Amino acid sequence: MYVRNVEITDIKTESRDVKTFFFDHSFRFIPGQYVMVWIRGVDEIPMSLSYANGITVKQVGDATAAMCALGVGGTLGIRGPFGNGFRVIKPPVLLVAGGVGAAPLAPLAEALKNNVITILGAKTEDELLFTERFKSAGSLWITTDDGSAGHKGPTIDLLDRIRGYNEIVSCGPEKMMRKVLDHATVAGVPSQFSLDRYIKCGVGLCGSCCIDPSGLRVCSDGPVFAGAQLQEGDFGVYMRDATGRKVNL
Ligand SMILES: Cc1cc2nc3c(=O)[nH]c(=O)nc-3n(C[C@H](O)[C@H](O)[C@H](O)COP(=O)(O)OP(=O)(O)OC[C@H]3O[C@@H](n4cnc5c(N)ncnc54)[C@H](O)[C@@H]3O)c2cc1C
Ligand code: FES
Repeated sequence: MYVRNVEITDIKTESRDVKTFFFDHSFRFIPGQYVMVWIRGVDEIPMSLSYANGITVKQVGDATAAMCALGVGGTLGIRGPFGNGFRVIKPPVLLVAGGVGAAPLAPLAEALKNNVITILGAKTEDELLFTERFKSAGSLWITTDDGSAGHKGPTIDLLDRIRGYNEIVSCGPEKMMRKVLDHATVAGVPSQFSLDRYIKCGVGLCGSCCIDPSGLRVCSDGPVFAGAQLQEGDFGVYMRDATGRKVNL
């Protein structure tokens, strides 16, 4: 399987534990597609493309810590882009982004320019990602858990207040996305969600990323699924870890 070596040309610190890494290569991609990033000697992990030539990484464990320790001139091995990406049929669209879930949604907002409303949520103001990118693409509603910016409370609090869209697209914590799906179902609006599940091969072979009960593979059938595909089963309830064991969300 082809691995492209890329060199890091620039690094932007987005918040205390999130950085964007820019590469010396631009990928042709559909917003929502991801790449497998090989941090040599550590691990290979999935990351959405937040730019044609960049990924935005939240430090959560060994591989992301190793990546965040790299500097300009450091190198990574990249496979992909993989997966289906978002497919918007009838704009205007409401984007619901939670935390680092903003990473695949920012290039989508730019592609949909002036046909997009975004709810952008984070724990605190400092952790809001890509505020300027979303604002220049359309209208922006901000929520923070601690009220340091915008509405105080979860992103889903704002869903009832916003009108004027034909579709909802969301990425963020799965429990948040489950509530967005429930809202979309009641409102009778089509919806799409980008799932974060344990990905090993990235090409549909190993089965580690399958969702229950459909058996659809997040790595190759997704990571973006229509709400109708997620109504029944594990969505918002549990995922599987590296060993295949169920982990409650
Ligand atoms: C399609 C997709 C796109 C993603 N895009 C982004 C992104 O743009 N920015 C970002 O910061 N994160 C993204 N993630 C999540 C990112 O892959 C994990 O945070 C990362 O793999 C954690 O690795 P770690 O070794 O630092 O942490 P670990 O300590 O190994 O794990 C921390 C958490 O990350 C999960 N995780 C670990 N390895 C994997 C893996 N191979 N596949 C999926 N989840 C894993 C674990 O289940 C655990 O919940 C994406 C995940 C998927 C599936
Ligand atoms: S990660 Fe191997 S089938 Fe999806």
